[in-house]
Amino acid sequence: MELDALRNRYLAAVLAAGDEAALEEVRLAALGKKGEISAMMATLGKMEPEARKAAGAALNVLKDEIDAALRAKKSALADAALDARLATEWLDVTLPGRPRPRGTIHPVSQVTEEVIAIFADMGFAVAEGPQVESDWHNFDALNIPPEHPARQEHDTFFMARAEGDTRPPHVLRTHTSPVQIRAMEARGAPVRIICPGRVYRMDMDHTHTPMFHQVEGLALGRDISMAHLKWTLEEFCRAFFEVPSVELRFRASHFPFTEPSAEVDIRCSWAGGQLKIGEGDSWLEILGSGMVHPKVLAAGGIDPTQWQGFAFGMGIDRIAMLKYGIPDLRAFFESDLRWLRHYGFSALDMPTVSGGLSR
Ligand code: PHE
Repeated sequence: MELDALRNRYLAAVLAAGDEAALEEVRLAALGKKGEISAMMATLGKMEPEARKAAGAALNVLKDEIDAALRAKKSALADAALDARLATEWLDVTLPGRPRPRGTIHPVSQVTEEVIAIFADMGFAVAEGPQVESDWHNFDALNIPPEHPARQEHDTFFMARAEGDTRPPHVLRTHTSPVQIRAMEARGAPVRIICPGRVYRMDMDHTHTPMFHQVEGLALGRDISMAHLKWTLEEFCRAFFEVPSVELRFRASHFPFTEPSAEVDIRCSWAGGQLKIGEGDSWLEILGSGMVHPKVLAAGGIDPTQWQGFAFGMGIDRIAMLKYGIPDLRAFFESDLRWLRHYGFSALDMPTVSGGLSR
């Protein structure tokens, strides 16, 4: 009789519990260490063996019953809580989808990735340098002393100086060649790096913009020669323009930082107004190059009696225009959305040498 009353009381309490905290209180009152059922269990020891057996079994049944009720209520409360949450978090799946932002990869970024992939495959690391450069790195170290006419030809942007500062002003780098010096300083020899990046010249017409992109190459070793330069550039052009053969023409030229120097043209045709690389009777200049001048090696802290090598500098925008048939350089930097969508690349077009550079 006593147990029946207990059972009814606790089952009613379980039913009435409105949340997990109330339920826990019921559990403690009945089954907790100091709970009512536990207290009754403790009195079993004082009973006669026969009575203890019967009372013990009955208490255990009661305990299991209350425990089961507690568990059932607990999961019912959890279900109710989930239902309540779902009711507040509903989503109307019949609404029209949000338009995805239609960003594209800029041709300059895409071509930079292509160039990096090809040269990485040939063992060149990527190096970087600052765009605001000391005039020593941009000029002097590259064998362009202050009175050298090349300083004028570069149409340099000079940074403002603090008042009273008489040191030569920093410049916006006019080419990526100062990274040759920085790479020599940082890595010594032997070394094989390319450096893609922005360069600046005060120049603006339909084939020039005040900011454009170059990629510098530098390879130093004990006996690196013009032959290595020629092979490297041919290999690059074949991979980059994705044609089975290319023909390059090395034209003797002059740069203060290379000796000998060569400008490199690529064979092409303009038949029907369509540019084709690797065939035809026309030549297009694509880069400047040569053997690194001993004075430049010395400026980079490298012993010119022990080391030699080649360097080149190529216009990234220019080879992007050639490869993808983009007619106007200035459009690269006008941020016209129609142009960007037309000439831009999908974010998934990651260029790799093995997987194909472009599709
Ligand atoms: N720095 C040269 C330019 O901007 C290109 C170049 C780089 C030439 C390296 C030779 C060697 O025109």
